Parts: sequence; C-alpha cells; structure tokens
Amino acid sequence: MLELKSLCKKFQSGTGNGRMALKDVSLSLQPNDFVTVIGSNGAGKSTLLNVIAGVFPVDSGQVTIDGEDVTHLPEHRRALVLGRVFQDPMQGTAGSMSIEENMAMAFKRGMRRGLSKGVSAKDKDYFREKLASLGLGLEDRLQEPVKLLSGGQRQALALLMATLSQPKLLLLDEHTAALDPRTAQEIQELTNDIVRRGSLSVLMVTHNLRLALAVGTRTIMMHEGEIALDVSDPERSEMTVSDLLERFHDARGERLSDDRILLEA
Ligand SMILES: Nc1ncnc2c1ncn2[C@@H]1O[C@H](COP(=O)(O)OP(=O)(O)O)[C@@H](O)[C@H]1O
Ligand SMILES: [Mg+2]
Repeated sequence: MLELKSLCKKFQSGTGNGRMALKDVSLSLQPNDFVTVIGSNGAGKSTLLNVIAGVFPVDSGQVTIDGEDVTHLPEHRRALVLGRVFQDPMQGTAGSMSIEENMAMAFKRGMRRGLSKGVSAKDKDYFREKLASLGLGLEDRLQEPVKLLSGGQRQALALLMATLSQPKLLLLDEHTAALDPRTAQEIQELTNDIVRRGSLSVLMVTHNLRLALAVGTRTIMMHEGEIALDVSDPERSEMTVSDLLERFHDARGERLSDDRILLEA
C-alpha cells in the first residue's frame, strides 16, 4: 500500500557539501503492516516520515500510496490518505481552539475542497462518539480549549484527529516520547486499538528498542540514511534487543555507539 523507490534527500549545510539524510531508501508496505522504526539520532527516521507526508520534496525517487504516485503532491493533498502524530503534544493540536474546533479542523482537512461548511449536528455526534471511544471523558468537554488538557489527553486527541477521516496510513514520530512512562503506555495501547479498528498501515518511530519489538508486525532500523535492518514476524517475535543489536553488527560490521538508542535499550 506504500511503495518507496530509491528515495534520496540531501539537506544543504550552508558550508559546502550538505548531508545525505536519505540514501537510496526503498521500502514496500503491505496493507495492515505495522512497522516500528528505530535508529540513532540523525539516522533519517523523521526525514523518512516527512518525505512520505510531503513536508519537503525528495531529490530523487518515488513515493506511491495505494497505487497513486504522490511524489509531487503537496502535503495538504496527501492528508486524504495519511494521518500523522508528532512527539510534541503541542504540535498536533491547537491549544487556543476548543476540542470541537480541533476535531472539525481535522475532519475538514481530510475532505475534498468545497465540501466543508461549518460543524453540523451530525458531525458533532460523530466527534462525541469518537471522543467517547478514548474513555477519557473528553466527549463532555467539547467546548473547552485544548490547552487545558494534559499532555497525554492532547496526544490521545491528536491520534483521534489524525485518523478521523479514515486514512490508510498512519505516521507516528516518537509520539509517546514526551510523556511520563505510564501515560506513554496508555497512549501506546490506545494507538494499538485505533490501528486495529481502522485496519491501518503504520510507520511508528520509537527510540525504545524493547517497545519496537513488542508492538507491530515488522521493525526496520535506519542508520546514516539507509535501512540497515528489516525484520518481520514471525522471525521478529522471537528476537530480543541484544539479538537486534547483534544483527546490526553482523549487517554493518560496526557497533552502535553510546547514543540514545543504547541508553534506552
Ligand atoms: N529541515 C532540515 N534541515 C536541515 N537538515 C536537516 C533537516 N531535517 C533533518 N536534517 C538532517 O538530516 C539528518 C537526518 O535527520 P532526522 O531525519 O531528523 O533524523 P532522526 O529523526 O533519525 O533523528 C540529520 O543530519 C539532520 O541534521
Ligand atoms: Mg527524529
């Protein structure tokens, strides 16, 4: 359902050569693939998600979603087929707007131009029903500004908003990393529920290696702009974090140094 062909992306450093953030990345996702994405800081994980979402153009290569070549489509035109949630709860929701206004904005984002006219009673019922499914009582707080919500509640709302117009693909970039461990676990469980119910395909970046192996169906490890490892169930379900690091060593002939990826392992 997602086909990435030989994607290259280089950022200009201003002092000469710049850096290859993506080096000839190819990846194919089947419907219902739930891929966890790991790799050290600067490995190109966020760049990969940004390129799929159309945040910036690629230098070369092709992005196809559900048979449609979207390589040259702007970000807002891809919103019909994909939803995304970022690390920062502030980024996915507008704090000064009410829960209802945020939901309406997300709902309209997924529509084709010309169809959006205010919030109907039917829309409101739909929002309320969706909010109730979170089990956080937010359905009774539609008029409250989102800035009054906790980080976890905001991330739950962001997840709901990202999937409101029933996209096929969900992109998650360390979306639980800013939360305390218990809230992070709750949001992860909610994520798994939403993915299951919506039959979504997922790319989920995490720096928690244990989590990366525990959720989803497949794990890829990025390293210096390349996909260094790609393991799927059932093989993956037998692997431990040290197996994973050993596989990386076998594949690349080097060990990951003492950066975040190891600290979190
Ligand atoms: N908007 C940008 N402008 C310039 N350089 C960037 C930008 N985004 C990412 N990079 C660079 O691209 C490389 C990959 O970054 P990123 O995809 O954010 O890594 P990760 O998410 O795996 O930590 C890094 O060297 C980073 O500095
Ligand atoms: Mg990142």
